[in-house]
Amino acid sequence: MKRRVAILISGRGSNMAALIEAARAEDFPAEIAVVISNRADAGGLERAKAGGIPTVTIVSKPFGKDRAAFEAVLQAALDQHRVELICLGGFMRLFTAEFVQRWHGRMLNIHPSLLPSFPGLDPHGQALRAGVKISGATVHFVIPETDAGPIVMQGAVAVADDDTAETLAARILAIEHRIYPDALRLLASGRARLEGDICKTSANADPDGTLISPTAG
Ligand code: GAR
Repeated sequence: MKRRVAILISGRGSNMAALIEAARAEDFPAEIAVVISNRADAGGLERAKAGGIPTVTIVSKPFGKDRAAFEAVLQAALDQHRVELICLGGFMRLFTAEFVQRWHGRMLNIHPSLLPSFPGLDPHGQALRAGVKISGATVHFVIPETDAGPIVMQGAVAVADDDTAETLAARILAIEHRIYPDALRLLASGRARLEGDICKTSANADPDGTLISPTAG
């Protein structure tokens, strides 16, 4: 049985699209049951509809700071679509600790940095200002703290001296679209398990997984 997944979005939904595409494969252990947006103007909604995925819009703005009231409506939608796992894909709204606890071990997020470096806003600018030579993307389980939690998968890219936040973001986004479906595959097939604050997987580390940057030539 495929695990039923909700993707939560606030914007363009390119990670959502990558997950929808991956889930089309017969052997993929999850199906995208619903896409939920907290913004009516999220571009990803049209992309999801075009892909034949049910969509729900729960505009969060009128709820203001009443996160619990928003989450009650959200939970009802998740129940209605019999959702078992949640993937956040650029979902720009914080959850209460209660909601996070309820979905403990069943909710993933993706963030465009090698966490725990550069959580929060403008991770690409943060990476450039720190002068790191390697950055990347991280898929992690969601905990109450923003952009933190047990790491399921990471992918790295070299940072060039002439990178801007835009060029770096574009290269990292391509990595995001590769690792998010793979991380969901691990979780949905029962191959990602939590041991306290650490996620262990039965997947193999890339034996040639070395990235040194810059190269001295
Ligand atoms: C992605 O780059 C994702 O990693 C980031 O928002 C973007 C959403 O793009 N998420 C965060 O920064 C979470 N803190 P998308 O809507 O095209 O998937």
